[in-house]
Amino acid sequence: MKVTVSRKAHFNAAHRLYVEDWSEEKNNKVFGKCCNENYHGHNYELVVDVIGDIDKTTGIVIDLKVLKDIIKEEIEEVLDHKNLNLDVPYFKKVIPTAENICIFIWDIMRKKISKDKDIAVTLYETPRNFVKYSGN
Ligand code: NI
Repeated sequence: MKVTVSRKAHFNAAHRLYVEDWSEEKNNKVFGKCCNENYHGHNYELVVDVIGDIDKTTGIVIDLKVLKDIIKEEIEEVLDHKNLNLDVPYFKKVIPTAENICIFIWDIMRKKISKDKDIAVTLYETPRNFVKYSGN
């Protein structure tokens, strides 16, 4: 019996989406306002799902305090109030789209949560635009 336990978190970050080899025109066409060369910010909302069996002794899937602390230390500390392109080495070569940020977060969480549990990450770039990655 698998149960999903979720924790919400939040960070603000700036980014710029562009492909270096493309013309300004093509970048504008594909990325719109997100390729503004002076960067711009988003209020990202994050949901981390941990899916697993309920422990027979404790009755829980994961200690939410533990999950909260991992997200705070490993994700928020790394991304909050950062310019993703300039401040986060991972995004020097990877375009910081919501998709790629979501994978970045999932990879970190995967290393921190025991392997008998599955993880899914949902990242809201705006209240209406969000992406989800569960490792497939
Ligand atoms: Ni943007």
